[in-house]
Parts: sequence; structure tokens; C-alpha cells
Amino acid sequence: MSHKYETRLSHMGRAGTHVHGFVNPGVHRGSTVLFPDCETRRDGAAKRMDQYMTYGTQGGPTHYAFEDAIAEVEGGKRAMIVGTGLAAVVVPLLAYLKAGDHCLMPDSVYGPARNIANTMMAGWGIETTFYDPCVDEAGMAALIRPNTRVVYTESPGSHTFEMQDIPAIARAAHARGAKVLMDNTWGIRIFQPFQHGVDVSIQALTKYVGGHSDILLGSVTVNTDEDWQIIRGAGSLLGQFASPDDVWLALRGLRTMSVRMKHQEKSGIEMAEWFAQQPQVKQVLHPALPSHPGHAIWKRDFTGATSLFGVVFQPRYTQEDVFRFINALALFGIGASWGGYESLALPTTGFITRTAGTGDFGGPMARIHIGLEDVSDLKADLAQGLAKMG
Ligand SMILES: Cc1ncc(COP(=O)(O)O)c(C=O)c1O
Repeated sequence: MSHKYETRLSHMGRAGTHVHGFVNPGVHRGSTVLFPDCETRRDGAAKRMDQYMTYGTQGGPTHYAFEDAIAEVEGGKRAMIVGTGLAAVVVPLLAYLKAGDHCLMPDSVYGPARNIANTMMAGWGIETTFYDPCVDEAGMAALIRPNTRVVYTESPGSHTFEMQDIPAIARAAHARGAKVLMDNTWGIRIFQPFQHGVDVSIQALTKYVGGHSDILLGSVTVNTDEDWQIIRGAGSLLGQFASPDDVWLALRGLRTMSVRMKHQEKSGIEMAEWFAQQPQVKQVLHPALPSHPGHAIWKRDFTGATSLFGVVFQPRYTQEDVFRFINALALFGIGASWGGYESLALPTTGFITRTAGTGDFGGPMARIHIGLEDVSDLKADLAQGLAKMG
């Protein structure tokens, strides 16, 4: 029988672990794994890719329960858990690219992904071209070179929330033999990457899966055995591992993710609409608003929204005015990350690097994350902050 997502969320990641009747898997810590005899150990090496414990770095029962659950949420076959969202970005890039290869990355990519492309990858002879995230199929086809092995995507883009036409990009990439990697953190669950042509889905589980701003974790999910061998192999080579304590916390976070995300989706849209009505605001960058340039793509490909969006202020304001607004807020923390239970506000103008485009939205910008607080309290706080902009 196939159950609805909310039902499955309560049951996934529980089978196959030695729970002895307890509802949840335990925290299994360990480096050494013992074998009854040398033959079993020798033969076990061949099963290392397949949730068979040979050594702590391969993961244990807590990891395997969570891997299964994340693969199910992402709609893929196998998931590998790594220590941070950034590690989940880096491992597949290094897994699929080698000296002499070419990589394509959207200009709106998460900043540290740009940084590794421009530093270590460039140093190893891997060239990266940053492209307009709103490229269409023909435009993507024109960008792909004979040595392009990876087309990296992220939709919506970090800080500026451009929507990418992932199915069109994937068609162009696959026709020319390139793999499509996607940072699907904003779209967890509400975008099913493998139904839209993605080969490798990257998650910063630190965000909505953790949900409580107390862990760092990432995942890399694939949908074929061939990609699993490549990804799991690279993870092992690079010594990737995540603490079973954090994995256990993330599995705990996963159980309530749907109710938290539904609440935050509703509050996020309400707050985005509220921002759009304020005289200080020029534009709100939230894909679920019909005014967003990528709204049609969001409506076609996504089944919901998360609570992270951008605000562009009127050009008469300076970055210092935005600082005054954010400094005046009592309920919004000033800090990076998102997906937790608490609201955040971050000035973004100085954080945005663009090389394919200008990144100029015509005014200073901020990124807003809406948590689980009451929206009338948030509106009152924001209103008094906006009044201080001058
Ligand atoms: C879109 C996106 N991808 C990846 C990451 C990296 O996640 P982590 O903080 O777990 O390294 C972040 C973190 O902010 C992010 O916003």
C-alpha cells in the first residue's frame, strides 16, 4: 500500500535497525567493527557499499536508518550522509570532475560552491564557467563544451532567488553527456529532483531537516547504482563522516519537518506579501509571489514553498539604512543559516558575487527567514524596524 508523505515521514528510517521495540533507532557510536572470523571480514569488504558495517567511517545503524529516510524524502535510490551541507556540495563536484574537465555553475550559486570552483578546482585544472541562472535549453546547450562533465544547479538561487528551468537544463546536459547536480536545500521535499532530470541531489540538512539550528549535516542522494558507486566511493576516499549524535538529531527533526514546513510556508508567504506592501520596499524575491519573474517555473515544478526570501529596498536607501532596520529588530536574529524555528534577517548586498551578470537589483538587499513565531508579532517588529530606516 502506498501511503501519503506525512504518514511515511513517521515510519521511514525505522526498519532494519536493532531497536528491540523502542520507537526510535539508537545512537550507535563506533570506530572498530568486529568480525567473527577472518573469512567473514574478507568477504564483507565486497559489501561495503551496501550498508554493511566494516569500519566506523562507513556508517552504522543510525546512519543507515537516516540514509534510507533521506533517500525517500528526495525520491531517490540511495543517500550518503556527510558532515555539513558544504561537504555535500564539494563531494559530488570532486567525484565527477577531474583535470581537463569543464563545469558550469549558476551565477546565483551558494557562495562557498563558487569559492571551491575558483580555488581548489581551478588549481587542479578544472575550469568553471558561471552562467545566467535563468538560461533556457538552447542557451544551456550553447554553453556546454565537449569536456563539460557537470552542470551544477541551485533553484532558487542563494540570496537572489532566481528560479532555474531544471528540466530544460537537464535535457540540454544529458543530450551532451553531462551530469546534473542540484543543491535542492530550498526545495527539500517540495521539489522532487529525480522527476525533473537531476542526477545528484545535494541537501544542507542543517536547515529544515535539523530544524532547530543546533546541528550541521548534509546529504548527497542519487538514483542509480552507477552514481551510487561514484558518490559513495568519493565520500570514502575523502574520509567523509557524520557524527551519529547529529544524525540521530536530524532523524528526530525529520519527524516534524512537514508540520514545521507547512506552518513556515504559510507564514513566509504572508510575510513576503506584507513586505511587498511596505513603501520602503522595491521588490520581494519570493518564488511563490506572482510578481516573481520565476513564478511560472515554481508553480510548474514545486509543490510548495519554504520561508526564506529576499527583499530589495527602494534605491533611495543605503546599506547603512538596511543595517539600521535590521539592528532595530527584536525578534529577528542577525545570522547565517536558515530553516530553524527562529526568524532571521541578514543584509546581503555585500555578500553577493556575480560574474555572468551584474547582480544589481536596483537597491540594497536583505534575506529574511521566517520561523515559527506568530506573524502579527513579526509584522509589528518589522514595522518598527522599517520606521528607523529614515
Ligand atoms: C543553499 C545552501 N547550500 C548549502 C549550504 C551549506 O550548508 P552547511 O551550513 O550545512 O554547510 C547552505 C548554508 O547556508 C546553503 O544556504
